[in-house]
Amino acid sequence: MQENFPKHVAVIMDGNGRWATSLGKKRTYGHYIGSLVVDKITKSAAKIGIKYLTLYAFSTENWSRPKSEVRFLMALLKTQLRKKERLFEDNNVKFGVIGNLSAFDSRIVEVINGLIKKTANNNGMKLNLALNYGGKYEIVQAVKKVCEDAKNKYLNIDNIDEKIFERYLYTHDMPDVDLLIRTGGEKRISNFLLWQSSYAEFVFFDKHWPEFTEDDLVAAIDEFKQRKRRFGGL
Ligand code: FPP
Repeated sequence: MQENFPKHVAVIMDGNGRWATSLGKKRTYGHYIGSLVVDKITKSAAKIGIKYLTLYAFSTENWSRPKSEVRFLMALLKTQLRKKERLFEDNNVKFGVIGNLSAFDSRIVEVINGLIKKTANNNGMKLNLALNYGGKYEIVQAVKKVCEDAKNKYLNIDNIDEKIFERYLYTHDMPDVDLLIRTGGEKRISNFLLWQSSYAEFVFFDKHWPEFTEDDLVAAIDEFKQRKRRFGGL
């Protein structure tokens, strides 16, 4: 593996709604086509040799969308996840979720847990779906757990450092994000992987997520390879 190849790629899959609207269709159509692109990009990323792919599918803020859109996204998630077993097996993908699943319908949680169990021994790419994920929420939850462990004397406050803190994040078993891609033309992080993206390289696409292709993923990686990462040094 090349030195400057990104191990962990994270994607903010933005623009589904605008894309569909621009075609005179309902926003939900964009989400449906977006979900098919999730499959294509999962396959491509695994083939290209990415070790960790994290996709922002539903944020802690997305609950504030119209009820009908939230309902559609939940139903889409359930039907699409039910079809994923084959994709993960064929591509040696290990599946995981980051986020707070307690807000989800138990049938969705059941499908998720089933996929996690069935793919546990796959050793190719790890695919993380960020569901009901918020970076600030994740950090606050981690702080609470750190306090709890300190109170119960499992942790000595003087010993807490970045490495120890990271053990309390959803991403405790993965490296930080190397490359963060956002489609849809906006240039912001939107509460995604705040801690883990401290030194990520950002690549933005004006095109919307339903139009994103394997060639775009390769182009983002090529762009990443050109960047000089100094991590605050010289
Ligand atoms: C952002 O587009 C997209 C989302 C909030 C949802 C992303 C979900 C998918 C791509 C489908 C996921 C499905 C599975 C099975 C993983 P937007 O609605 O914010 O678009 P806009 O900015 O044009 O309004």
